[in-house]
Formats: sequence, C-alpha cells, structure tokens
Amino acid sequence: MVYDNIVLIGFMGCGKSSVGKVLARKLYKKFVDVDSTIEKEQNCSISDIFESKGEEHFRALEQKCINELTQNTGQVIATGGGVPIHSTISDKSLIIYIDADFDVIVNRLSARERAKRPLFDDESRARDLFDQRIDTYKEQANFSVDANQSIPTFIHVIVDYVLDRRVK
Ligand code: S3P
Repeated sequence: MVYDNIVLIGFMGCGKSSVGKVLARKLYKKFVDVDSTIEKEQNCSISDIFESKGEEHFRALEQKCINELTQNTGQVIATGGGVPIHSTISDKSLIIYIDADFDVIVNRLSARERAKRPLFDDESRARDLFDQRIDTYKEQANFSVDANQSIPTFIHVIVDYVLDRRVK
C-alpha cells in the first residue's frame, strides 16, 4: 500500500499542529491544517463559525475541506479533533493518533488556546467528549503514538514509523 498523505488525529490540544509542522519538515512534505484552511477560506475564526452558523455547518465545512485536501498527495495534514468522529477520511491516508491523556492535554493548552476552542469552554464537558471519542480515534488510526511525553520526545517515534511505510 502506498499512502497518499499522513493524517494526524487526536483530541483538541494534543499537539497535532505542532507535531505536524515538525513532521512535515523532517519528512520533506507539505504541512496543511484543516482548521486554518477553513478559517482562511471562510475569512472567519472557528469560534465565529460555531457562533454564527452552528456546529452542524462547521462539520459540513470540515468534511468538504478534508475531501479537498486529500485530493492532493505528499502532505502532513493536521485535523481538528472532531474530524474522525464527524467526517470520513480517505482510506489512502496513513492515520496517526496523537494519544495523550486528558490531564496532559489540559496542562498543554494555554488559556488563550482554550479560548479558541468552543467545545473546550467547559472542562468537564470536554472530558466527557474525550471519553466518548477515544475509542473512535483508536479504531481509525493505523498507528497510535504515546503522546504523554514532550512533543520532541515522541516525534521521532512517529518519524521511525512513517519511514517504514510508503507515502507519496
Ligand atoms: C474541535 C476541535 C478543534 C476545532 C473545533 C472543533 C472538536 O480543533 O476543529 O473547535 O470537535 O474537537 P483542534 O483539535 O485543533 O483543537
């Protein structure tokens, strides 16, 4: 199997975008981020989309965005935390789950980063969402990396895994 792209999945704040940028550089691939792509296309922040058009509308934009991005190949794609739950990801993607515990995520997210995420405004609801989603993340992934260590520590585990696979 030759995969088209590497797709990073995981809960809000687990480090998908930070990991993705480094991974893309190390693997000589292009980095793209689903949330940033949507924000650019809509000329509007994710919070504003949730507020003005609602979550359902955002999920439709997300599916459209991941469909369009996966038409291209040779990229590292960082998804929003809801993509594996609400969207279908091309089966030609090498899907990597950034597997961090909820408490690690809470410590990793600054107040500013939290404020950008409408589904993280209430910590106990975010924890419930995490518990509901974790099995789906694991099921969808080709590979789960233990992301409870610092980001630079686990990136090399992902690089080693990817280098043993064929990605366009
Ligand atoms: C969401 C995660 C966010 C963003 C939106 C919804 C989710 O992205 O897409 O706020 O449903 O988990 P991050 O995972 O980058 O925080």
